[in-house]
Amino acid sequence: MLSEKMKKALNEQVTAEFYSAWYYLSMAVWAAKENFDGTYNFMAKQAKEEEEHAMKFIKYILDSGGEVELGEVNKPPKDFSSLKDVFAKALAHEKYVTNLIKKLVELAYEEKDYTTLGFLQWFLEEQVEEESTMSSIHAKLEMVGESRNGLFMIDSHLGQR
Ligand SMILES: [Fe+2]
Ligand SMILES: [Fe+2]
Repeated sequence: MLSEKMKKALNEQVTAEFYSAWYYLSMAVWAAKENFDGTYNFMAKQAKEEEEHAMKFIKYILDSGGEVELGEVNKPPKDFSSLKDVFAKALAHEKYVTNLIKKLVELAYEEKDYTTLGFLQWFLEEQVEEESTMSSIHAKLEMVGESRNGLFMIDSHLGQR
């Protein structure tokens, strides 16, 4: 059984994961417009993954006998100044999400909800990976700077995801 507090927080995370999907989809659309086809592919897949995260939370709430209440998903930003800007924002966003997950963990501790603590373990590890992926792409973009060749190569590489 989920406490009221825990249930509310998990439902909020469903919305947050859908916002992540929305945000990455917005990045994908920007990339397509700028002819970064590889980044489009990468971000479209990333959006799908975020949707899967949302579904994991939904399934967990349902399995625990809680009601799912879908919240309002905010409109994501649509303008980015460069490919590096996209990945800087993706990295910042993943750091923000890591904090959200950590807050859920803290709440689960407070509520002595050991089942939810176990459930959240996967997300803690997933966030390490998410931050590392975005950070390493961002670092490569720092490396190539304005080089058209460099940008082309990184974009092509991202298309292979
Ligand atoms: Fe996520
Ligand atoms: Fe993520």
